[in-house]
Amino acid sequence: MSVNATILIVDDEPSMLRYTKTLLEVDNYSVETAGSGFEAIKRVQEGLKPSLILLDMAMPSMNGLQTIEECKKIRPEQKIVVLSCVSDTSTVVQAIKLGALDYVTKPFYKSELDAVLKRCLEPDKSAKGTVDMQRYTVSGDVQIESLEDDLFFLAASPQMKQIRAQVSLVAKVDVPVLLLGESGVGKEILARLIHKMSIRAHRPLLKVNCAALPAELLESELFGYEAGAFTGAQRSKPGKFEQCNRGTILLDEIGEMSTALQAKLLHVLQDGSFSRLGSRSNVTVDVRVLAATNINIEEAIANKTLREDLYYRLNAFTMHIPPLRERREEIPLLLKHFMNRLSERYANAPLSYSERLVRACMLYHWPGNLRELGNFVKRYLVLQDEDMAISELETKGKGQGNGSTGASLNGGVVAAPEGGLKSLVRTLKDEAELKAIEQALVATNWNRKLAAARLNISYKALLYKIKQYQIVPPGSTRLSEPRTGLR
Ligand SMILES: Nc1ncnc2c1ncn2[C@@H]1O[C@H](COP(=O)(O)OP(=O)(O)OP(=O)(O)O)[C@@H](O)[C@H]1O
Ligand SMILES: [Mg+2]
Repeated sequence: MSVNATILIVDDEPSMLRYTKTLLEVDNYSVETAGSGFEAIKRVQEGLKPSLILLDMAMPSMNGLQTIEECKKIRPEQKIVVLSCVSDTSTVVQAIKLGALDYVTKPFYKSELDAVLKRCLEPDKSAKGTVDMQRYTVSGDVQIESLEDDLFFLAASPQMKQIRAQVSLVAKVDVPVLLLGESGVGKEILARLIHKMSIRAHRPLLKVNCAALPAELLESELFGYEAGAFTGAQRSKPGKFEQCNRGTILLDEIGEMSTALQAKLLHVLQDGSFSRLGSRSNVTVDVRVLAATNINIEEAIANKTLREDLYYRLNAFTMHIPPLRERREEIPLLLKHFMNRLSERYANAPLSYSERLVRACMLYHWPGNLRELGNFVKRYLVLQDEDMAISELETKGKGQGNGSTGASLNGGVVAAPEGGLKSLVRTLKDEAELKAIEQALVATNWNRKLAAARLNISYKALLYKIKQYQIVPPGSTRLSEPRTGLR
């Protein structure tokens, strides 16, 4: 514990100030008090540098949120923990957005306050950046969290560390979270982390991919049905919302949900109630909704494919997960950690990376983000061929021609003969596939069911390929980079 840390308590209720002060002084903290936001700001302006500010949210004239804003202008690094009321979740979310580190709900026990102070005042115990691959070193801390199914969450860049810090707070506030970002950036991984850190962790987290099912099937999957609701419904069946009561549901690819179903979802978000298909009575559930999408939200709202009212419900807290090419410093670490996990899983000795290979990874633009990087490490581990791995990156980097980062490493030579030929065949095959898909979509006026039938592939497979190749309807803009990485 940080003995003698200075804590500034800000509260307009004198009895609360006294109570909190006593609790803290028992533990040898040096305590300062302020009876209003104005007073607190004045003290900080005058040079007070508390290790932490314990800040009441509900105060007259300058409230807690305004105080955080003002305080952060003077001392951006100031640690602030907010004191809130039970019902005040939206204020807590706002406070976190403004940079508060944690919160305590009033009335609180000493043990609750102690736990929060310990978390916020103790030095960060996370692992130090240990990767030192030739010139690619990462300075600072690396935060790694183990998740189920041998997955892990790694955060080393400032952007991801900030997201990690937000997760630990938002996880505990029972509000919906909207996870935005390109394919493979880690939306599902973050959803798992949020669930793991929430009070619902002991209850199920269920994932529903809204793009994988046609509208009617998705409705019965989510909300269940009664016997006789439709042909073939012999027995009644609860939907995912009932199955994960008191747990968390991840609605993946929410942008693909039909607007009629979005309306039903809106009701669930409003009061937790809905009816199974074919039923007249309502079921009430307590489910936390997390939603993920890689679509361009503004565009989807403008095109009316995403209901604005639903968006505002889901948007209680939004996290934008940056693409890997915007946090390249994490690439060497990810290479290392994927290698360690995968080599354990496949009982292979881990391979090392040469400087050339790490450099190729640093230059490549990773349109499939961390998923693509994980698969890349898997292939490298299995094939154990460095030249092939490098030429794979070079070829894919060239294919997209956006000039941003798909730089040639060998001064314009397409690829080494062996891997080059394989890559070339793969690229040609992918190009042919892409062309056929684009033609089918244009011919069917982007009716994806019809296009899938024409191509003789399943609807789900088509959706996957549209995403893989990042094909977008004419006239719309991409959220991610232009079509790249033909695999
Ligand atoms: N921060 C991270 N740390 C470690 N691994 C990660 C991280 N983010 C993503 N991954 C890896 O990348 C893979 C893809 O992540 P995830 O499934 O969460 O992406 P997504 O954003 O949901 O993609 P999609 O839009 O295609 O569904 C994960 O299985 C995991 O292996
Ligand atoms: Mg996903």
